[in-house]
Amino acid sequence: MAFDEIRSVAAKLEAEIASGPIVPTVTPQEIRDYLASRYDFTKPLALDDVIADVERMLRTWQVQVTHPRYFGLFNPSVTLASIIAETIVAMYNPQLAAWRTSPAANEVERHTLVWLTGKFGFPSGAIANFTNGGAEANLSAVIVALTRAFPDYGEHGLRRLSASPTIYLTGEAHATFNKIAHMTGLGRRAIRTVATDRHLKMDPGDLARQVTEDRKAGFAPFMVVGTAGTTAAGVIDPLPELARFCRSQDLWFHVDAAWGGAAIISPRLRGHLAGIEAADSITCDAHKWFSVPMAAGMFFCRHPAAAAEAFRAETSYMPGKTAGPVHDPYTSSVQWSRRFIGLKLFLALAHLGEPGYVEMIERQAHMGDVLRESLKRAGWRVVNTTPLPLVCFTREGLVTAKFLQALYQRQIAWMSEVQLGDGPPVVRACITSFRTTESDIEWVVREMGRLT
Ligand SMILES: Cc1ncc(COP(=O)(O)O)c(C=O)c1O
Repeated sequence: MAFDEIRSVAAKLEAEIASGPIVPTVTPQEIRDYLASRYDFTKPLALDDVIADVERMLRTWQVQVTHPRYFGLFNPSVTLASIIAETIVAMYNPQLAAWRTSPAANEVERHTLVWLTGKFGFPSGAIANFTNGGAEANLSAVIVALTRAFPDYGEHGLRRLSASPTIYLTGEAHATFNKIAHMTGLGRRAIRTVATDRHLKMDPGDLARQVTEDRKAGFAPFMVVGTAGTTAAGVIDPLPELARFCRSQDLWFHVDAAWGGAAIISPRLRGHLAGIEAADSITCDAHKWFSVPMAAGMFFCRHPAAAAEAFRAETSYMPGKTAGPVHDPYTSSVQWSRRFIGLKLFLALAHLGEPGYVEMIERQAHMGDVLRESLKRAGWRVVNTTPLPLVCFTREGLVTAKFLQALYQRQIAWMSEVQLGDGPPVVRACITSFRTTESDIEWVVREMGRLT
């Protein structure tokens, strides 16, 4: 099948987005009135007209995350192969819940995940599955960790445990864990916030102290979350120290590498993730630095038996278990019906090849360095420390919210405001598009100088 039309539409869209506005100005009422005036669903409309209208809405009323000057929240530009993959998946609509229904799709996902499992240094017996995103992967980690640590949890729930379980992470870890603590019945107070050093990395001394105190007070510590590329500042926690501590204390070590995990395939960057190979589980999103469309997260787990126990399910209406070395994803992961999420990573990887992917990731890391240096030269103060392409910065007397408003109004770039630790708000700029060039960066920094 030829996908020439998608190719040319994608190329045209890319050019139009790059030369158009990045930030919309629209009110909810404007959009609601527009939709109400056109779509009451009482009669059919010409599909071509509706498609053109939807595209117009997306072009006008959206922060353009695939714009080369979108320096945003880990939402990437997307590769052509991954766009085509999405179309193929929608056309065939494979159901991946059970292996027998979709042998080809299940094996394509497995093949892709085995490749990345090896890059992370996990053993070949580790289990991995695609998720909707990092939140689901983190949820999977907590459920499997609870199941392994507390054999009664699955049948009797937390109420049967003799001590309340606790999780350890820093204030820079992703806020999904607060929701997960709520959803799993642990309760938000099960989260212990570990102190950080001046670079916002987890302080292993404070971790040890809190675990000891909690044990003395009758709690049941069971899990530590290290982040490899924090959302606000791209910080990588001291993974080797955390891994050693967790092993010595029999604690589950989860690494949330939702964004930063992609660096593992780069010979130049992977050293920064050393220690991740000793994790019990890893979150890594394909829809972040691997540059495929949402939704595509991944969950890697060293303990397949614990995952199978956590998500076991038996019914008469699903296809029977297939003999051989295969598993049915609905019995070893959160989801039941399962979309063919992994094709977009598989197709992009097959198309670019590993060297092409490495080049794309290293190029973005280099653009992060260019941005950092360019900001410093222009008199900005960079306030975060990371080898990843995420730069937080400020300057004396800057009112961040006002600065960003002017940045958006003049369509210079999209950046965001963030607070690191308990410091004042600063500006956060992340290279998320493989299309961002040095001249984009130089232009943005020059224009920013005119705003302050
Ligand atoms: C470190 C980290 N973990 C988890 C998540 C949640 O991932 P998702 O939005 O894919 O659910 C994010 C999102 O930005 C993240 O940065």
